[in-house]
Amino acid sequence: MAASHGSGEIPVLGFGTLIPDPLTTAQATKAALEVGFRHFDCAERYRNEQAVGDALQEMLKAGAIRRKDVFVTTKLWNNNHRPERVKSAFDASRQRLQVDYVDCYLVHTPFAFQPGDEQEPRDERGQIIYDSEVTLLQTWRALESLVDEGQCRAIGLSNVNLEKLQEIVEAARIKPAVVEVESHPYLPEWELLEYCQQHGIVLLAFAALGHAMEPRLLDDPVIVAIAQRLGKTPAQVVLAWAVQRGTAFLTTSVKPSRIRENFELSPLPKDAMQEIRNGVATNIRFNSVVETGVPGFIPRSR
Ligand SMILES: NC(=O)c1ccc[n+]([C@@H]2O[C@H](COP(=O)([O-])OP(=O)(O)OC[C@H]3O[C@@H](n4cnc5c(N)ncnc54)[C@H](OP(=O)(O)O)[C@@H]3O)[C@@H](O)[C@H]2O)c1
Repeated sequence: MAASHGSGEIPVLGFGTLIPDPLTTAQATKAALEVGFRHFDCAERYRNEQAVGDALQEMLKAGAIRRKDVFVTTKLWNNNHRPERVKSAFDASRQRLQVDYVDCYLVHTPFAFQPGDEQEPRDERGQIIYDSEVTLLQTWRALESLVDEGQCRAIGLSNVNLEKLQEIVEAARIKPAVVEVESHPYLPEWELLEYCQQHGIVLLAFAALGHAMEPRLLDDPVIVAIAQRLGKTPAQVVLAWAVQRGTAFLTTSVKPSRIRENFELSPLPKDAMQEIRNGVATNIRFNSVVETGVPGFIPRSR
């Protein structure tokens, strides 16, 4: 399955690499490639691009996959928003991932932090130091140049609201191909999805299973009832819903059996789609990164 983003295609089933430990990251990435995932979501902020790159290289060298069949996304972190820092941040990610080109490069959040090596620069009171000298549009222009230079196939945004997205779409020379935001039945983002669909932008849903946080989406009575009726797992119901309503999704597991489960999807009947839309009562955002630029869940270890 692939969703179109104007000039190219992105595999709808995406595997996220926000995994704290590099060895586990490499093992999970390899397991995901083996079950058939062809879309990998990375970030300089996750501090494990090297491990993802090692797993990709191992599978490429073994002839198990071809580079052109894998879609690799990575992201620019908040301390690198100044236009003059973008190219070197991009090249460093590309080198750690060990790829000649990146399929998609995203601005990880619309918040610029003080430029420098520190990913979370803080003042003496522990407050994040933001950078008011650079706008998101200036950063976007630098991403457009990366596309011109040929080592970046598509660009996009993450953790933006509709208003910010519209601002960039209206001013952009190269439009965002992908918008990566938290989305699941507890945060469906219908309005944002409608805008994306009108503009040929792929909405890529992260935390598609609710990040295993409370209240647990996979224990929701509506989801559980549908899963039991259809002989699927709750995760398979939620992920099939994501695909059928027109988004791409990211999910992450370090367990091979769950990685397989999350890839083996089949369509839901129409009434199940309606039941999820109308029957799920909880509404919650799990990750506050969209409000501050500070991630709700990020590996702290190196
Ligand atoms: N752009 C951003 O700011 C941003 C922010 C957050 C995440 N992301 C991306 O989105 C990806 C996915 O996010 P996420 O980690 O929140 O994903 P998620 O898939 O919603 O949650 C992952 C959690 O669910 C568990 N899980 C996975 N499959 C399961 C299954 N079939 N049944 C029961 N539990 C299951 C995992 O545990 P086990 O590992 O133990 O199976 C893990 O604890 C990340 O890796 C990252 O690439 C992006």
